[in-house]
Amino acid sequence: MTRILALETSCDETAAAVIADGRTILSTIVASQAAQHAAYGGVFPEVAARMHVEVVQTVVTQALAEAHLGLGEVDAVAVTRGPGLPGSLVVGVNAAKGLAYGAGKPLLGINHLEGHVYSPWLLSDREPPDFPAIVLIVSGGHTELLLMRGHTDYQRLGGTLDDAAGEAFDKVARLLELSYPGGPAIEQAARSGDPLKQGFSRAWLDGTWDFSFSGLKTAVLYAVRGQPYGKPLAGAVEPVDPARVPDLAAGFQAAVVEVLATKAVRAAQRFGARAILLVGGVSANQALREALIASAPCPVIFPSLSLCTDNAAMIGAAAHWRYLAGQRDALDFDILPTWPLAG
Ligand code: KG4
Ligand code: ZN
Repeated sequence: MTRILALETSCDETAAAVIADGRTILSTIVASQAAQHAAYGGVFPEVAARMHVEVVQTVVTQALAEAHLGLGEVDAVAVTRGPGLPGSLVVGVNAAKGLAYGAGKPLLGINHLEGHVYSPWLLSDREPPDFPAIVLIVSGGHTELLLMRGHTDYQRLGGTLDDAAGEAFDKVARLLELSYPGGPAIEQAARSGDPLKQGFSRAWLDGTWDFSFSGLKTAVLYAVRGQPYGKPLAGAVEPVDPARVPDLAAGFQAAVVEVLATKAVRAAQRFGARAILLVGGVSANQALREALIASAPCPVIFPSLSLCTDNAAMIGAAAHWRYLAGQRDALDFDILPTWPLAG
């Protein structure tokens, strides 16, 4: 059995977890800073870094205590090396280096996106996903479509050319004067809306596996202002009419969901996938889950709700496979704030 202590501080969650064999969560602690960033409508990098410094040690201590393990009893220490906010990554990486050095344990730097990819393996009560799998990573910073042929073996099919899906949710939520983070707020508002009352055109980017969401965000802006899309915006900015918000939210969500689900399903058909893995913060979205399940030619697997958004358990799950493959990083490795998972 391998037991890995994992740390994650790439954005605004300070997290630590202990994972056995890449499948079983012995403990998982997440200290979210969302409330501190809500006033800014997004993550404030300097605030995030400072808060990581304040709580990282407590979070690690708690993770070990809940797993009933001492640091000496884990096999390795893993940490998110990138991608993410530099100031935030540095805090977790330095803490992990200190722990690994102090306890004489191997250290592994893990790609945050690979963490999301492995989050479905943490459902230890069901069979692990079969390969080949299509992976749709939809988070606040990334939208990636991958073909996964085996463990840690990825081929990038496409990704967003501009805004990430979660970023589009967050920006549109701001336009609709909804709370941060925007994804859950839009999903909630959309429940009482009619997606057909306020339709938006889809950016299909035919012939590619890529996505684009910034045009949609602009289309929502024009709809909010009640002006024809494409002409220069005119007049003063009025507060959005609350009665229109549900239909606008539903129309926007339907446009994002249809493009994401259709491309993932097409990829699954094209590559004979035996599973579609839907991961990252936006995978919490019920409409997206339902759209995929309705049209997928294979099982659709998503993490439990608490493992959709950033956490350290998923970093521990990914680290398990890297540990088995022999990865051991030197104690002087640097953070990689823009680290692609696959070329
Ligand atoms: O994976 P994550 O926690 O952080 C990154 O690595 O980016 O993803 C956060 C993103 C945010 O943009 C948030 O608005 C979005 O996930 N999100 C959702 C939902 N819950 C979180 N988007 C749509 N529907 C949701 N229910
Ligand atoms: Zn993430």
